[in-house]
Amino acid sequence: MASGEIFENEARYRSVKREYHWFLARAVPLRDEQGNILKWYGTLTDITERKRAEERLRAQHTVAQILAEAATIEEVAPTLLGAMGECLGWDVGALWRVDWKAEALRCVELWHNTSSIEVPEFERATRELTFVPGSGLPGRVWSSRKPEYIPDVLFDENFTRINIAQREGLHAAFGFPILLGSEVLGAIEFFSREIRQPDQELLNMLATIGSQIGQFIDRKRAEAELRESEQNFRTLFESIDEGFCTIEVLFDQNEKPVDYRFLKISPSFERQTGIKNAAGKRMREIAPEHEEYWFEIYGKVAVTGEPVRFESEARQLGRWYDVYAFRVEDPKLGHVGILFNDITKRKRTEAEARENERRYREVQAELMHASRVATIGQLMASIAHETKQPIAAAIAGAQAGSNWLKAQPPNLQEAQQVLGSIVSAGRRAVDVIDRVRALIKKAPPQKEEMEFNGAVLEIVALTRAEAMKNGINVRTQLADGLPAIRADRVQLQQVILNLIINAIEAMRDVGENDRKLLISTRKEPAGVCFEVRDTGPGFAPGALERLFEAFYTTKSDGLGLGLSICRSIIESHNGRLWASPNTPRGAIFSFIVPGNRVSTS
Ligand SMILES: Nc1ncnc2c1ncn2[C@@H]1O[C@H](COP(=O)(O)OP(=O)(O)O)[C@@H](O)[C@H]1O
Ligand SMILES: [Mg+2]
Repeated sequence: MASGEIFENEARYRSVKREYHWFLARAVPLRDEQGNILKWYGTLTDITERKRAEERLRAQHTVAQILAEAATIEEVAPTLLGAMGECLGWDVGALWRVDWKAEALRCVELWHNTSSIEVPEFERATRELTFVPGSGLPGRVWSSRKPEYIPDVLFDENFTRINIAQREGLHAAFGFPILLGSEVLGAIEFFSREIRQPDQELLNMLATIGSQIGQFIDRKRAEAELRESEQNFRTLFESIDEGFCTIEVLFDQNEKPVDYRFLKISPSFERQTGIKNAAGKRMREIAPEHEEYWFEIYGKVAVTGEPVRFESEARQLGRWYDVYAFRVEDPKLGHVGILFNDITKRKRTEAEARENERRYREVQAELMHASRVATIGQLMASIAHETKQPIAAAIAGAQAGSNWLKAQPPNLQEAQQVLGSIVSAGRRAVDVIDRVRALIKKAPPQKEEMEFNGAVLEIVALTRAEAMKNGINVRTQLADGLPAIRADRVQLQQVILNLIINAIEAMRDVGENDRKLLISTRKEPAGVCFEVRDTGPGFAPGALERLFEAFYTTKSDGLGLGLSICRSIIESHNGRLWASPNTPRGAIFSFIVPGNRVSTS
């Protein structure tokens, strides 16, 4: 003061109400004309408000700074509490987190200003206690989601640690929630040795700090989740069996994808491709003859972003792949992720299965043909008889004709007539031979539109002599207006032939007058139905199940293949073949094949 400078000092004094206030003490000298100090003017200004505003700003700033550098809230809790306590001038602080399992608040950290107070009992109690919503100061903050202020805990009805607070000299308290939106993640409380009146601005600031900390916790949680998912991805990437890589598709100046470069490759990549150290290399460099479509497909994924799944061969690598490709990262980069599996083995097995299937079909066709030829062979005697008749008629005609010509005068008119009958007899014989040839001919199966009744009649004609030989009365009942069907004509005739021959064979041992065969066709909702009814012995109990099994036969010279071949033919026409008992006795064999929608009448 002796220097005569203006004197200023800020100091904290306790007011009459036991509250501290800040004052600015200012002394200004009054001087005479020579500059000698005559006296001092002193002012004492209450600057509590300004001081508090400064403290709050500092507190807020410090909290922000601490959070910016923190890894977890637990780690920085002591620093955070200490900084806030010191900035705001409070003596004890505690941070609470919600323990979701226990549905209670649990103390994470307790701080106290060691130069102002010692609170061993309060600290122990705080660390041990938990609070449920609504109970104690932390619990109240939890349920109200708002800062709470208590001027003096000793006069509060809902303050659990009241006795200890009294012993250790704590009075004013406030608490505020750590909030994420409306979710309470925790709470922070502070205590003072003094009794303090509520301070709305302080409470407002605490609400802000509370949500700052809430956002911090949430951000860290998200970061931890991201780290974990990255870790999971890494593990997946390292351990999956499928090959995985990312590539950069390379385009020429016309935007045509012409190559790609491997970026990341999984450890399984080499096993899946046989390519060593692919990362950084171009595909064309590795396999110059790699098929064009690989580049096209990946180029399209890079451009459109639409993922694709496909199976394809990489001939130069000697492998087949099942591939899932999708765009990754920034669309502008044209990077594509490829998840793939070597399916060469499966493809080979598939090819083998196809080959086996083909051979099986071949054998089956062979067998069908053989069985058809055998059946015709059985009929040969009858067929020979059938052809012999027109030939015999032709011979007789020729003799008669020559007689007419030898007569004096030759009877040309009669001769002419006889020649006509010879021609038609010859045609009848040729007809029979043609039909037999058609059935014996070995031709690949072939489905075409056919007229059903006509095909039935041809077989009826071929078997007529055989039926006659066996004394069988044959009747046909063919429906008009059947829809046309798409079928292999010869195969269907084989079925009809088999069923008729079986029926003829079945009736060998019944009385001569009781051998009746009814052959009919009719229209059904499901298509065209063919039926053979005989008056043979019918089926033994249990036989109905086995008839269609290959090699099932009750005949000493039977092969047991006829019905099984019939069924496979009908099924290959999407039809159905079955047997049922006839009344009063005998068997019925029926099949249905689907008809075309348009009927030919
Ligand atoms: N119309 C029928 N009446 C009674 N049994 C029949 C008839 N058709 C077939 N069967 C029975 O079904 C068996 C199998 O017939 P199929 O497969 O044609 O072989 P196969 O004629 O060589 O015996 C015949 O042995 C016979 O026992
Ligand atoms: Mg048979």
